[in-house]
Amino acid sequence: MDVVLEGLRRLEYRGYDSAGIAVVAGESIQSRKKSGKLANLVNELAARPLPDALTGIGHTRWATHGGPTDVNAHPHLADGGKLAVIHNGIIENFAELKAALLAKGHTFTSETDTEVAAVLMGDFYRARAAKGADENTLTNAMSDACQQLEGAFTLLAIHAENPNTVVAARRNSPLVVGLGDGENFLGSDVSGFIDYTRRAVELGQDQIVTITPDNVEIIDFAGNPAAGKEYLVDWDAAAAEKDGFPSFMEKEIHDQPDAVAATLLGRSDINGRLTLDELRIDPERLKSVNKIMVLACGTSAYAGQVAKYAIERWCRIPTEVELSHEFRYRDPIVDANTLVVSISQSGETMDTLMAVRYAREQGAITLAVCNTNGSTIPRESDAVLYTHAGPEIAVASTKAFLAQITATYLLGLYLAQLRGNMFHGEIKDVLADLGKIPAKIAKILANAEQIKELARSMADAKSVLFLGRHVGFPVAMEGALKLKELAYIHAEGFAAGELKHGPIALIEEGQPVVVVVPSPRGRDSLHAKVVSNIQEIRARGANTIVIAEEGDEAVRAYAEHVFYIPESPVLLAPLLTTVPLQIFACELATSKGYDVDQPRNLAKSVTVE
Ligand code: G6P
Repeated sequence: MDVVLEGLRRLEYRGYDSAGIAVVAGESIQSRKKSGKLANLVNELAARPLPDALTGIGHTRWATHGGPTDVNAHPHLADGGKLAVIHNGIIENFAELKAALLAKGHTFTSETDTEVAAVLMGDFYRARAAKGADENTLTNAMSDACQQLEGAFTLLAIHAENPNTVVAARRNSPLVVGLGDGENFLGSDVSGFIDYTRRAVELGQDQIVTITPDNVEIIDFAGNPAAGKEYLVDWDAAAAEKDGFPSFMEKEIHDQPDAVAATLLGRSDINGRLTLDELRIDPERLKSVNKIMVLACGTSAYAGQVAKYAIERWCRIPTEVELSHEFRYRDPIVDANTLVVSISQSGETMDTLMAVRYAREQGAITLAVCNTNGSTIPRESDAVLYTHAGPEIAVASTKAFLAQITATYLLGLYLAQLRGNMFHGEIKDVLADLGKIPAKIAKILANAEQIKELARSMADAKSVLFLGRHVGFPVAMEGALKLKELAYIHAEGFAAGELKHGPIALIEEGQPVVVVVPSPRGRDSLHAKVVSNIQEIRARGANTIVIAEEGDEAVRAYAEHVFYIPESPVLLAPLLTTVPLQIFACELATSKGYDVDQPRNLAKSVTVE
């Protein structure tokens, strides 16, 4: 138990809304679980200790399906309490599986997708055991279950009838094995077991691993033998929880392909129809919406500004974006036909909460786009659409921002589907393009060195300006905000078209200006206009740093530095163009010796007005 608890302590940064442990003790499984931080579980264990055991699993949760309650906490038990399962990820087809299991007479105690996996495994275990159980039954039951599960998951299971064994499986979610001496370990990352061993095995996609104290066996989902990749961990414990990155921020920047992919997961069916049933707002009510107001603060407000372009384009509903604190105190016009969309990573920002309360009092439909399950803003809203970015630890928001854009885009497409503003084929195409974004972000991350080198060379800059047009405008403001927050450098984001109405007066010899250039394949005029803007500032001595699409050779002639990003439709470009700006700010601040995870004067969640 102590080993599992220590592992959870090290992994708590991965999720902290509830925690639980299960051990195999004699003929039975015993478990304890508690909502809230790990400390609550520690108190529970002090009050009701678990028996000594040699096999156990533990979990700290970041809720996706089902709020952060004791009942929804992991482990989940099945097979008459003999099987315990923990899970990370999202099981996309849990509703169908649950219906089938209910029809077979199984019962459920929680709202989670995890319990569905547990009950499914229990069902397979019993069926196999009926024909004769052996030491492979748990592994076989895991493989049976995995063949039916869709989505992303890491699953760990123990069974009272296989007391020395832990079986685990992974698809699109992390899992590593720790190789000890007469003991073996499993963890979402090596920090879970780094105190005991530095020998680790990384599992491949769709693999199942069975560990006992002196054996580790890997197979694929179909049961064929498979192998993982062994390596030696040379990080210390502090680096391990950051996946070896020097800061949480850098780790979270690298988490972004997963954050976008997870936010898309389970939100459309195989025919490309959006299935946002989780919204639970009467579709007729949504059809009557004649105005959308997006409310948020900080980075989340820039996600809202990006979303405005897409929502208006796709749904033809007038959309306003406002800072929550401004909205609240200006007597805004909202009524029963207004959809108020709040965007908040934490779900606790007081300004946004007060604005949502006010909108609700006025009769508006309130929908929260939020990253923290069970937090106050979603609880006080009519509906919620969760971003599945996972916990964001660094104060400056990165992966939550991309996940917010993704989620609000899904909302826009869903409204367009509901109201018939777009053809089915068009929606399907956008979803397909969104599906390609994670790999494109990964490509940008793989080429980060060029932008990092530039950032390091600019540590002495006194001021940096950012320009963008259309969706590139909020991206420019977000890029400037990141630089202010992290590197304490004066930075401003401007609409490129506004340049000649004032900001151009700031340009003098050597002034760094970052320009976000739209795709030349989009509306021609947009690209051409930004290229002329670059020429205008360059003529006045600006040091131009250009973010452009691959193949855009036209900008090269006017740019001191060009950073290319993969091709994408214009509206999806912010999911890519933001990434180099995050890397730029993070690296520049790091090179100045600043703590990028906890910048001065800032808080992750601002719970005062
Ligand atoms: C604070 C944080 C920002 C964040 C903003 C909104 O200012 O430092 O990173 O964007 O709050 O937070 P929320 O949790 O509502 O998205």
